[in-house]
Amino acid sequence: AGASTPMPSPFGFTAVAPNTEDAVRVPEGFAQQVVIRWGDPVLPGAPAFDPNAQTAAAQAQQFGFNNDFLALLDVPGRPGRALLVANHEYTTEPFMIPGYDPAAPTPEQVAIGMAAHGMSVVAVDRDPASGRLTPVMDAVNRRITASTPMTLTGPAAGDALVRTTADPEGRTVLGTLNNCAGGVTPWRTVLTGEENVDQYFANGETVDDLALARYGMDGGATERRWEGVDARFDLTREPNEPNRFGWVVEVDPFDPASTPRKRTALGRFKHEGANVHVGPTGTVAAYMGDDERFEYLYKFVSSRTHRAGDTPADRESNARLLDEGTLFVARFSPDAPGGGPDGSGEWLPLVESLADGTGRSFVPSMTAAQVLVHTRLAADTVGATPMDRPEDVQPHPRTGRVYAALTNNDERGTPGKAGVDGVNPRAENTNGQVLELTETGDDPGARSFAWSLLLVCGDPAAADTYFGGFPKDQVSPISCPDNVAFDAVGNLWISTDGNALGSNDGLFAVPLEGPQRGRVQQFLTVPRGAETCGPVVEDRLALVAVQHPGESDDASLADPISHWPDGGTSIARPAVVSVWRADGGWLTPRE
Ligand code: FEO
Ligand code: CA
Ligand code: CA
Ligand code: CA
Repeated sequence: AGASTPMPSPFGFTAVAPNTEDAVRVPEGFAQQVVIRWGDPVLPGAPAFDPNAQTAAAQAQQFGFNNDFLALLDVPGRPGRALLVANHEYTTEPFMIPGYDPAAPTPEQVAIGMAAHGMSVVAVDRDPASGRLTPVMDAVNRRITASTPMTLTGPAAGDALVRTTADPEGRTVLGTLNNCAGGVTPWRTVLTGEENVDQYFANGETVDDLALARYGMDGGATERRWEGVDARFDLTREPNEPNRFGWVVEVDPFDPASTPRKRTALGRFKHEGANVHVGPTGTVAAYMGDDERFEYLYKFVSSRTHRAGDTPADRESNARLLDEGTLFVARFSPDAPGGGPDGSGEWLPLVESLADGTGRSFVPSMTAAQVLVHTRLAADTVGATPMDRPEDVQPHPRTGRVYAALTNNDERGTPGKAGVDGVNPRAENTNGQVLELTETGDDPGARSFAWSLLLVCGDPAAADTYFGGFPKDQVSPISCPDNVAFDAVGNLWISTDGNALGSNDGLFAVPLEGPQRGRVQQFLTVPRGAETCGPVVEDRLALVAVQHPGESDDASLADPISHWPDGGTSIARPAVVSVWRADGGWLTPRE
């Protein structure tokens, strides 16, 4: 086939070319700024960052490591003031602490790692003339760490499965771990997903427990060796502690004294994140992915309806939305004949959480609490479709259609593993796909849906890729979609993690409607070893979290591949970057 007729870009920028530079590259005509880096102050009075003399006490007041999810929330009544909320997913101490010995971390080094986890809330002032954001040391600022007290809510709270020596009531957990992506609710709280929590719990190999194995906790010593300092990370001593992680946690960033809530009604798995959609009649659905090979796509539909007001009664009602309702898992039909990759599917109920704090299980052999704590085991029994690693699952704010990043699955179709199907169409899938799901009747509470693949990612020159039907000689290569966001015009923005095409990760924009549907254009690239996370796309700026710059099996602090963002011989630091059009114009042109 010959070249297609080039169409003008709907975004008004020239795509950034794939590269392997140790830099954030943005299109011509755009400006950028590092907003905040690992180690920068979050709490007033935090000490200056010194990687050679770091302490846990300092880290607990500073921006944590490995920023992933981001939210930027305007402060009511304070024009120009916003709260930046960031997840700190995980730590890699060998890239953080000079002289670190992985075989024998000191208690102080373990405490630094714990303090570098969790979340940050930091006030920022907006520059009216650009996308520049300036952190402000405000009383609302907060660090949440692996030690911050949290409350379990919903039917699993208080159950025998979540009781421990330190918490015989099974209701109060210290900390949140491996906070990957998340979402902002219409009632202005933040949801954060506890993802790969298996990596914190040691010695499961000596505990005979099917659920531990199903959740990947059947090994020996952990990489960080926290179990040597804190018994709750040793499964032979506290077998229920892991049941208190792997939840969606709801945080009120506007109240630094508030206690985060682990919402057990949303199930326990490797939560990438959770994103809420409110239907026209107030029905609330939260969409979620379990990010591991052959895991499932879920939604929670609240029994209560959203109240749009902001009275104390409205807030009290909305605070219970994620405690009462039904958790579903998705089963996809095969691809329908003809046309593009598409089909239908259904939502299978697993458990209903009730107003009185009890629940009703739809899985005959399991109690409600068991379904919530061991959600994977429950979903296995109902015929859910094993997916190619569901990362972000996010409803479009206007259409309600749901977009899921299925990042990759290099084991699909290999011996002993599930083979290809309509929605997971490639064996040994290294590049991933982006799913579009349309609820029946556009009702977030629907029991059935239609699906199509918007993108089958990879090198556009490869026969197995698909870009919504758009001519493939006019698109950017894209690999390993992870986080998704929407701009004010309704275009989808996708950030990537683990580019299998040999270039750095980045952020991409793609129209969902009209003749340019599927036209992927790369907006930025991130430095070596980094993944691109947390995109926030506003009218006049885009924010990305540059996570784990310099991370590589072939690198070390002594032999680094990245000195971003400070350059020279500096230590690489995960950081948040703001990008805007240098002339101050709209990020995405309007009609
Ligand atoms: Fe933490 Fe699924 O990425
Ligand atoms: Ca088809
Ligand atoms: Ca992710
Ligand atoms: Ca990922």
